[in-house]
Amino acid sequence: MCATRATPRQTPAEAAGPARAVAADIVPGARLLPGHLDAAAQRALLAEIRALAAAAPLYRPTMPKTGRPFSVRMTNAGTFGWVADRRGGYRYERAHPETGAPWPPIPEPILAIWRDVTGLAYDPEACLVNWYAPDAKMGLHRDADEEARDAPVVSISLGDDARFRLGGPTRKGPTRSLTLSSGDVLVLDGAARHAYHGVDRLYPGTSTLLDAPGRLNLTLRRVSVPDTGA
Ligand code: SIN
Ligand code: FE2
Repeated sequence: MCATRATPRQTPAEAAGPARAVAADIVPGARLLPGHLDAAAQRALLAEIRALAAAAPLYRPTMPKTGRPFSVRMTNAGTFGWVADRRGGYRYERAHPETGAPWPPIPEPILAIWRDVTGLAYDPEACLVNWYAPDAKMGLHRDADEEARDAPVVSISLGDDARFRLGGPTRKGPTRSLTLSSGDVLVLDGAARHAYHGVDRLYPGTSTLLDAPGRLNLTLRRVSVPDTGA
């Protein structure tokens, strides 16, 4: 399980700065699609997210062990939404924890991105919306609350650049950082699907997409094991 790996050497892109490290050099199965969404597509997506957040307001999850609030605010679309609190830990729920209403459906343009970048016949069931104020960050973690362990995770970035940290299968293993910019899509498949990752910091003011400094991230995940007809 825990095969030892040498610390990867720096790629030329990474040696030039933290931006644009080749994601698959960090862990196999990581695929960064820089600028996958053009400005018009980003604005269209933003309108979808605003409508979504009007129906399912952003709220602040809390850490299961300590009860400390996340710095990132969240909401969801889809059959299942990812939530975290002291009462039930990290998990998926069918309803918003504050309003009790079912999550709104995943907007079609977001499903289209999943289909485009994965080529899969099944759709995601959860679209987690993360809102990062300029000082928000997300600690190193793995996405591990899904039954569908083989399905990829697709992450879409909008707004200010973020320094994203990506490692391997163990928390203590080596990690490297890459910059995620507005319109970038990151696919975590294969080994990368179970790799540790987090967001160290934002670079406020690097994008003009949003009205205020900050960053939106959409994370698409399959929760239940898809019926592939096999
Ligand atoms: C996440 O791991 O849920 C979010 C990653 C990101 O904001 O890029
Ligand atoms: Fe994650």
